This record gives sequence, structure tokens and C-alpha cells, in this order.
Amino acid sequence: MNFKRRILVTGGAGFIGSHVVRRMVQRHPDFLIVNFDVLTYAGNLENLVDIEKEANYAFFRGDICEPSDIEKAFAEHQITDIIHLAAESHVDRSILDPLAFVRTNVMGTANLLHAARSNWKDDQEHRFYHVSTDEVYGSLGHEGFFTEETPYDPRSPYSASKASSDHLVRSFHHTFGLPVVISNCSNNYGPNQFPEKLIPLFISNIVESKPLPVYGKGENVRDWLYVEDHAEAIEVIFLNGTVGETYNIGGNNEWSNISLIQELCSQMDQRLSREAGESAKLISYVTDRAGHDFRYAIDCSKLERTLGWKPSMDFETGLASTIDWYLSNPTWIENVKSGSYQQYYSEQYGNR
Ligand code: NAD
Ligand code: DAU
Repeated sequence: MNFKRRILVTGGAGFIGSHVVRRMVQRHPDFLIVNFDVLTYAGNLENLVDIEKEANYAFFRGDICEPSDIEKAFAEHQITDIIHLAAESHVDRSILDPLAFVRTNVMGTANLLHAARSNWKDDQEHRFYHVSTDEVYGSLGHEGFFTEETPYDPRSPYSASKASSDHLVRSFHHTFGLPVVISNCSNNYGPNQFPEKLIPLFISNIVESKPLPVYGKGENVRDWLYVEDHAEAIEVIFLNGTVGETYNIGGNNEWSNISLIQELCSQMDQRLSREAGESAKLISYVTDRAGHDFRYAIDCSKLERTLGWKPSMDFETGLASTIDWYLSNPTWIENVKSGSYQQYYSEQYGNR
């Protein structure tokens, strides 16, 4: 078919990627959306069963660490644009295995940049959109916000690997004129998030009456954004963002971990018809995360001023619908935790 744009979405089977893929497939029938994903523990095609038969969707099992996989995807689908989300994304895992993060997040991004540069030599319009994190800016005290001008100060192997990839992306713009755009977003929550991250882990533990491991005193602060709001921001920036620019994305929604956990416990008590205070009894204070950043808070006024985007989901409703989704999809949780999807994908696509 004659598609207007042919977009490689890396990491499209993951948490945020699956929402981006669904949104782009449904809202842009004139764009081909190629989901390029190697399907690590965090990638799951089950997230996309509702759109997998659409004429403008294709899946390509590929590894951003393998240049030949990227070349094959470019050749097979004549890729015109990239929305790059594939990454190792969990801070605790980066403390256990930093090199895996350097490999995927730094080398993988460099491979994609190289492929884009060498394939896009025509006069057509192209775009390399790199999806990044607010963690590159470091950690705030009680006051202030990250703006697009905040100097980089990454402090975990995860955030350092994402900062390196941001620098590489900008360097390909400044040196080679690659048409790039970058966004840096705060903590996402919502359906399809792997139950290692705070909210889905705690929902799953409450259901099973397991301890809720709160790091340190639970005073660290995060700014939470509903994942579909993030997917909308990504669409807006992809379509209308200015080449070479960076946009912060956030939820204007700061919570200390312990207040958020109390709120979650109270909603879970109601949903599971447990006595008030029952779930909170599972809270267990544990040793703090090494190098734990104290506070992230995003100033996303540039995105609102220049492109008209702002978050629309209020937190109480977003949290309630997230809880709903996890309670209605126990098999999804069981399968991702047991790794049974991985076994299925190896049988279908071979071991990677
Ligand atoms: P995720 O861990 O849920 O998904 C990552 C996806 O990338 C998975 O589908 C995985 O299979 C795929 N992947 C990993 N390594 C790959 C490789 N070598 N080749 C191809 N595919 C590979 O991650 P997420 O939470 O959806 O995050 C997506 C992106 O958004 C990441 O770049 C992350 O840094 C960024 N981000 C995440 C958040 C958040 O709160 N989760 C916030 C801001 C930015
Ligand atoms: O800010 C954006 C980042 O948000 C993204 O770039 C990352 O990919 C994403 O994982 C997320 O990072 P965090 O480290 O903030 O998210 P996490 O859900 O792991 O933790 C949120 C907070 O909760 C953090 O302060 C650590 C704390 N925590 C987390 C877990 C998993 C606990 O207290 N106990 C836990 O068991």
C-alpha cells in the first residue's frame, strides 16, 4: 500500500510503546506502523492483540543491538521515520546489571542513528524521535522543577545510559543534520506495565497479600502521568514538534511514595471488599535503593505553550482504572511474571 509515512516504533510491545503503537495505528490509517521489538521480559505482543490484524500494522522481531536486524527492517518496510522507545527501563535492574543498559540504551540507540543516517539520503521528510526520561536531569530537593534547560546530572546506570543516548541523538543532529526530536518524561502508570515498577508491583502484592517493600522512608517524590496522556504527547510531538528541539512531558502530579501507597492501599481495600486499613498493614520499610534520587518534578509548560498539549487524566480516576485493568487481567500478570510469553515467542520466532 501507498503509505504517507512508514514509521519504525522500537519497543512497541512494551508498556508505553504498546499504547503509542495502538494510538498511531488507530488514528493514522495513512501511516504504516512497524513495531520493532526483540521481546525481552518486558515486551509482550498480547498488549496489541486488538490491533494486530490492522492493514497499517506490522511486527518485526528485531534487536536494536544487531545492526543487521535494523537494516533488514529498513529494507523490508522502507522506513521513513523512527519513534524510538526500546530500552532497558528499570532502575533497580540497572543497579544489578549496568552493562545490559549500556548495551541496549547506548549502543542500540547509536545503531539506530547510524541506520537512519545512512538510509535517509533522499529529499523526503524524515524524523528520528527519541523518547527519554526526566531522570537525566538528576535529583531535586523539595523545591524547583526540571526545565528543558536544566543541566544533565544522571545518577543511576539507567539514567546515565539514557543521558548518553540523548547526547548521541543531539550529536547526530548537530554534526550530520539528522532531523531529531527528543522528549523527557516523568513516571508513567497505567495498563500493561510490568509488575516490577512501583504501582503494578504493589497492586499485584496486595492481591496476593504479600509485603509492600517501601524503599527507605518512602519520602521520595515522583510526578505521575497516565500512560495514554504520554502516548498523546508523543503523537503531538512526532507530528508537530520542531526538529532539534527537546520537550519535557509531565503530569503536574507529585506524590511522595508513601502517600501514593496509602492512596493505593485504600482504593484496593474498597475494590477487594477488605476492611479499611487491611492493605496498608502489608507496608514493609526496606533498605533504600542505592543512589535513590529524592525528587523528580517536571515543568512541561513549553509543550503546552508551543504545541498545546497538557495532561488530561486526573490521578484518582487514572489510578482507579489502572487498578481495574490489573484486577481484570490476572492471566496477563501471571504470564509476564512466569515468563511463559517468552517461552511462546521463542517457539514462534526462535531464541534470541
Ligand atoms: P518497557 O521496559 O516496558 O518496554 C521496553 C520495550 O523495549 C520492550 O517491549 C522490550 O522488549 C523492548 N526492547 C528492549 N531491548 C530491546 C532491544 N535490544 N531491541 C528491541 N527491543 C528491545 O519500557 P517502558 O516503560 O515502556 O519505556 C519505554 C521508553 O520510555 C524507554 O525508552 C524509557 O526509558 C522511556 N520512559 C519510560 C518511563 C516510564 O515511566 N516507564 C518514563 C519516561 C521515559
Ligand atoms: O521518571 C521516569 C522514570 O520513572 C522512567 O524513566 C523509568 O523507566 C521508570 O521505571 C520510572 O523510574 P522510577 O525508579 O521512578 O520508578 P519505580 O516504579 O521503579 O519507582 C518509583 C518510586 O518507588 C521510586 O522512588 C522507588 C520507589 N519504590 C519502587 C519499587 C519498585 C519502592 O519504594 N519500592 C519498590 O518496590
